[in-house]
Amino acid sequence: MAVTLRHSTRADLDYVTALERRADNLDYIGQWSDWEHLSAIEGRNGRSHWIIERDGERAGYLIAYDCRAHDCGFYVKRILVDRKDGGTGSAALRTFLERAFSQADVSCVWLMVREANARGRHIYEKLHMRSRTTTVMKYLQ
Ligand SMILES: CC(C)(COP(=O)(O)OP(=O)(O)OC[C@H]1O[C@@H](n2cnc3c(N)ncnc32)[C@H](O)[C@@H]1OP(=O)(O)O)[C@@H](O)C(=O)NCCC(=O)NCCS
Repeated sequence: MAVTLRHSTRADLDYVTALERRADNLDYIGQWSDWEHLSAIEGRNGRSHWIIERDGERAGYLIAYDCRAHDCGFYVKRILVDRKDGGTGSAALRTFLERAFSQADVSCVWLMVREANARGRHIYEKLHMRSRTTTVMKYLQ
């Protein structure tokens, strides 16, 4: 299985919003308007919007904020995959971390996860998110 990241385009909007609004995802992630997604797709305000591809097919998405101007590396705002527990989310996040930490001025990638999101917490811990020097995972109640 090959998991890669590519920049989202406007043509991905329907895929992204349909996945985000799917009932089984509502407990784990916030909901954005089309406008918010398009703004991130266009790279406004330091946001980046990525399509996760698995074997060349869309498999999810990831949104990140560039916080380097505040010396806070990158914030992973959202990660979501269509089929859970197949290794896609871990692989996508690993790819994002490698890409982020390959930049000389990045010493921190962080995110927030709801306390009840046991699967999410598991993959972040598995990727040793707290073992990098200043990488943090914050728990939300
Ligand atoms: C969180 C998410 C991105 C992870 O991606 P994924 O492809 O499902 O994850 P993976 O298959 O790579 O890994 C899942 C791991 O969680 C484990 N897991 C599954 N359910 C679990 C649970 N209830 N408690 C603890 N671990 C669990 C799996 O066993 C697997 O661990 P392993 O690889 O050590 O066996 C994905 O499940 C998702 O989109 N969830 C809904 C949205 C969400 O929660 N986003 C993150 C918000 S912070």
